[in-house]
Amino acid sequence: MDKELDAEVFLFSTSIHDDYFLYPYDIWGSVAHCLGLAKACLLSDEEASCIISGLREVYSALREGKIDPSPFEDVHSLVEISLRERIGDLAGKLHTGRSRNDQVVLDERLYLREKIAECLQSILALEEALLRKAEEYQDFVMPGFTHLQPAQPVLFSYHLLTYFFMFQRDIARFKEALSRVNVSPLGAAALCGTSFPIDRSFVAEILAFPKVQEHAMDAVSDRDFILDVLHAFSTFALHLSRLGEEIVLWSTPFVSFLSIDDAFTTGSSIMPQKKNPDVAELLRGKTGEILSSWLSLAVTLKGLPLSYNRDLQQDKRPLFRAIQEGLAMASIAARLVDHIFPNSERMEEALKKGFLTATDLCEYLVTKGLPFRKAHELVGSIVRKLLKEGRTLRDLVPEDFGEWAHLYDARLKEVIDEKQSVNRKASFGSTNKKEVLRMCAEGFAFVAEERKNIEGLWKMWQKSFKDLVGE
Ligand code: ARG
Repeated sequence: MDKELDAEVFLFSTSIHDDYFLYPYDIWGSVAHCLGLAKACLLSDEEASCIISGLREVYSALREGKIDPSPFEDVHSLVEISLRERIGDLAGKLHTGRSRNDQVVLDERLYLREKIAECLQSILALEEALLRKAEEYQDFVMPGFTHLQPAQPVLFSYHLLTYFFMFQRDIARFKEALSRVNVSPLGAAALCGTSFPIDRSFVAEILAFPKVQEHAMDAVSDRDFILDVLHAFSTFALHLSRLGEEIVLWSTPFVSFLSIDDAFTTGSSIMPQKKNPDVAELLRGKTGEILSSWLSLAVTLKGLPLSYNRDLQQDKRPLFRAIQEGLAMASIAARLVDHIFPNSERMEEALKKGFLTATDLCEYLVTKGLPFRKAHELVGSIVRKLLKEGRTLRDLVPEDFGEWAHLYDARLKEVIDEKQSVNRKASFGSTNKKEVLRMCAEGFAFVAEERKNIEGLWKMWQKSFKDLVGE
């Protein structure tokens, strides 16, 4: 370059404030690359060990806050220049066969796989909290809703388990995202590989990547793996926002299906009676930002020509914001579930009001030989009559059945009993208590197994970091 970079251009294009915290990953990847260069005889053993101890020194200095990052353009130049200050011109050899284009995606991939594992751990804790609640309150019966209208009796535990199954899909989505994140782009260099004989598989292996991202131009242009993670976070956050909304709704004094522990609510500065469900509200509220992070990156990528373009630098802010909020939401949601307490009396009051076993009554009439459509019509007219007269299904007498009065018998009392209704459900995956307890038991086993898998991954990654960077 003939001229110094314009000061405003420097400020405009710098990303150090967004990528500074990637330094452990940048150094980890740099040590691996250095070992790759040594293996390809592009560095002597002495040169490699001098570079590696220099990188380790830079790591310690950064960790102890001894280097001011602000004058640097990005994390990669921060590490490279700090290394040069310590070992001199030899530092320049580290960039053989490497470009910031493959370096930046390597850093992001190393960072993201850990964040996905963290998120998986939090989702498992959340699932476990739901399963514990479901087991603890296995006898509570409440109205199940459609259209937010009382529909049929269900176990409170059954309603809760719906969220468990949503989170199961989130776990699958995060694992799928992890399989795409967990590939090594290193060796792609600027856009089309390098003429140096580096062994890409060796470098991937020592960084504990199971695979190499084959096509170099794809490797430096690709940000789909970030979109995948943001998509997983978005759907997970949507689920949390639905859970949050139900906790808000159920804790309002009009409903009072549950109460929230004081430590998880706030008061009002002016209205002394208030107990606000802020955590649940924020699970709803923070979801918007996570959803917009996916869109933000998608818009950056839309129509972008191959291969690396500086636009791609803009991937970090939405990513880090979504991760920060998403991880905080996952962790607090697990604790929120531990701090909610269902109120069986209020649930039973609601059960009595809602004609919830009208469907059971229809099914009973079907067993007596009535076609379902006819039974539905008859029960509909009975319910309208009872409502008009201020009575409930419990007050039924044979005369209410008109010309079908002969179908009334003593068993009807059991048929309209909400608790018996729940356990009469016989289909797989229904609200029957036996089914609910089976799903809980299988859920607990899944959580334990998945935890082991994630711990295995952590151990592998930590070992790689320790071997290459130390500590
Ligand atoms: N800070 C850049 C980014 O985040 C690093 C890659 C820069 N590469 C380049 N050719 N200017 O994308």
